[in-house]
Amino acid sequence: MHVAIIMDGNGRWATKRGMPRVFGHKKGMEKVIEAVEWADDRGVDILTLYAFSTENWARPKQEVDFLMNLLVEYIDRELRNLHEKNAKIRILGSPNGLPSICVKKLDEAVELTKNNTGLEVNFAINYSALSEVERAVKNIVTNGYDEDEIDIDLIKNNLYTAGQKDPDMIIRTAGEKRLSNFLLLQAAYSEFVFRDICWPDITWEELDSCVDEFNGRKRKYGGLK
Ligand code: FPP
Repeated sequence: MHVAIIMDGNGRWATKRGMPRVFGHKKGMEKVIEAVEWADDRGVDILTLYAFSTENWARPKQEVDFLMNLLVEYIDRELRNLHEKNAKIRILGSPNGLPSICVKKLDEAVELTKNNTGLEVNFAINYSALSEVERAVKNIVTNGYDEDEIDIDLIKNNLYTAGQKDPDMIIRTAGEKRLSNFLLLQAAYSEFVFRDICWPDITWEELDSCVDEFNGRKRKYGGLK
């Protein structure tokens, strides 16, 4: 099973507690660690986490810097553990514009875990689904494909998620019900599960309840059953 999560509500979670927004991101990172543990324990095949969108650059510099530092801190703290779990890390998104220390750490994480065969963890960082499609089309043109060679498989093989199955379920926390430029093509037949709780309040029980909700859905893929 491929589970993708839009981890929303860090800011609101902190503000509600009279704390600066970044406090919510810090707690959010702890929950990223927990979500990976959960996914590994539950036998999830792929876990995709939306950590930073290209639109997030519009936030105050202090918050952006904090998030970038948090990514570095996360890799420093968790890379060994992820590797021991046999997890394979992939980054969805562009390195352009990320601080060089961030790119270095992310490269290191991908390189170290590239031959691992367990849980695949995708971090969407500096990610935009629309830019991902644009990049795929450019790749295809650059590689000189003819019109009759172009099909959806070729397009999907030029996305950041090349070779991976599409998300079965996309979870979004904090009450918002939109995709926010996340995995547009890959979400064609995903089941959407929404929770009102903010990401820093996520628990194993809540993630299990999302899977229960997913299991209760009838996936018809446009057919009749
Ligand atoms: C959305 O909450 C969350 C983000 C934009 C960042 C997600 C980052 C983390 C969960 C922590 C760091 C990640 C890793 C992989 C170490 P928001 O700030 O939009 O919340 P709001 O809607 O309440 O303002």
